[in-house]
Amino acid sequence: MRILTSETQEKVGQTVELMGWVATRRDHGKLIFLDLRDRSGIIQMVVTPKSPAYETASTLRSEWVISVKGEIKARPEAMVNKDIKTGTVEISVSEIEVLNPSVNPPFPLETDGHDIGEENRLKYRYLDLRRPRLQYNIKLRSQFVQKVREYLFSQGFTEIETPYFTSTTPEGSRDFVVPSRMYPGQFFALPQSPQQYKQLLMVGGFERYFQMARCFRDEDLRADRGFEHTQVDVEISFVKREDVMEIIEGMMTTVVEAMGKTIRQKPFPRFTYAEAMAKYGADKFDMRTEEEKAKGILAFAWVTDFPFFERTKEAPPAGGWTFTHNPFSMPAPEHLEWHLKGEQIEKIITQQYDLVCNGFEVGGGSIRAHKPEILKATFKTMGYSEEQIQKEFGHMLEAFSFGAPPHGGIALGIERLIMILTGESYLREVQAFPQTAKGHPSVMNAPTPISAERLKEYGLKLDEKPKAK
Ligand code: AMO
Repeated sequence: MRILTSETQEKVGQTVELMGWVATRRDHGKLIFLDLRDRSGIIQMVVTPKSPAYETASTLRSEWVISVKGEIKARPEAMVNKDIKTGTVEISVSEIEVLNPSVNPPFPLETDGHDIGEENRLKYRYLDLRRPRLQYNIKLRSQFVQKVREYLFSQGFTEIETPYFTSTTPEGSRDFVVPSRMYPGQFFALPQSPQQYKQLLMVGGFERYFQMARCFRDEDLRADRGFEHTQVDVEISFVKREDVMEIIEGMMTTVVEAMGKTIRQKPFPRFTYAEAMAKYGADKFDMRTEEEKAKGILAFAWVTDFPFFERTKEAPPAGGWTFTHNPFSMPAPEHLEWHLKGEQIEKIITQQYDLVCNGFEVGGGSIRAHKPEILKATFKTMGYSEEQIQKEFGHMLEAFSFGAPPHGGIALGIERLIMILTGESYLREVQAFPQTAKGHPSVMNAPTPISAERLKEYGLKLDEKPKAK
């Protein structure tokens, strides 16, 4: 029986039932005006003193949940409310049932919420989410993910989940670790990305993998960086760099255009790292004019030909080498010889590609080293001993010895893309339950100390008293 506010305009003259939240109540002389909000929007309702619902209507407050029966009436031309989608109609209310009252909300929900303190918004995130802006952002994210899935399925990809309880995968951050009860004193690492597993899936013969992968990185928080983020993670066998870039460009073009967006330049312009640095002074850049910015145009570009290694910033070993992007990458074919011999390290270019959009790095990937000796050479250059290599990456070297196909892939940051598509400036505006700038989750209290008993089970002893948050 229940219909949505968005369905009212085609049902003028009918008596219908609606359910939702009281957004506002205004008393005008004897008339009571209610704005009812549901997942599809908002509608004005009028209760006259003659209505049997009048008494109940006069007790309603913001955010009470109600069920309403009434007749849909067209509003006179002069009274049409152009600010809302249902502005041509209103409901003449005959019945109201209170499904659940609400205490006074801690902040208004009809504004965009930008002016409300973050801690407060995230403490009551479930209320904050009722805000039309957040409803829009989270739904747009869902549409984006659906369209990406549709595209990848249409191209023969298989969606596969990979473990969260695993061992470290280097992506340039610290790991979040989970103590093991079965092996006291030992830890799992949550994945910084599914990098190694997706490559193992290529060894496993799937050829075209994707996953909406949650990644965990213990790094300093920024507007566009959180402890958890989600990637459209892709890996493909029997491809060259150009093939991966073409598939991803096709996917992004199809998806964002289906969502009504305009792309500034197709095919996406390409820059080598050296060209980007010379032209923009950065490897992520915004090519749009002020006018294009105002129109919400998307300026995608590829950056390629990055140096494979850079000098480590800190000891030990001071002055050693580390990877710039991804240790599992393949060097450029013309530099393979240097790579294997550990020569001319600063000159070695990697087959890495980054996708840039409107000043953000929205994705990165590479063709991988699929032969054990190439991957081994990478870790040797980074100063790993033979023993360390075997201990940390022996499983990959072994897997690659069983006929690993040539392969490559990419991962796109979903939050960053949705930030761009919605025009938001912070990651938290496109996640349902983001963490606060101080690193707590929304609504819940964490991290928290654990009992002495649990500590004992895990074989752990604390050196320090838990710090106050
Ligand atoms: P990378 O580390 O570049 O590559 O991550 C890929 C994309 O994920 C997004 N991203 C983040 N978004 C929000 N918060 C973060 N902390 C965060 N870190 C990364 C960015 C980035 O471009 N395994 C490789 C991919 C590959 O080679 O296939 C990887 O994870 O948009």
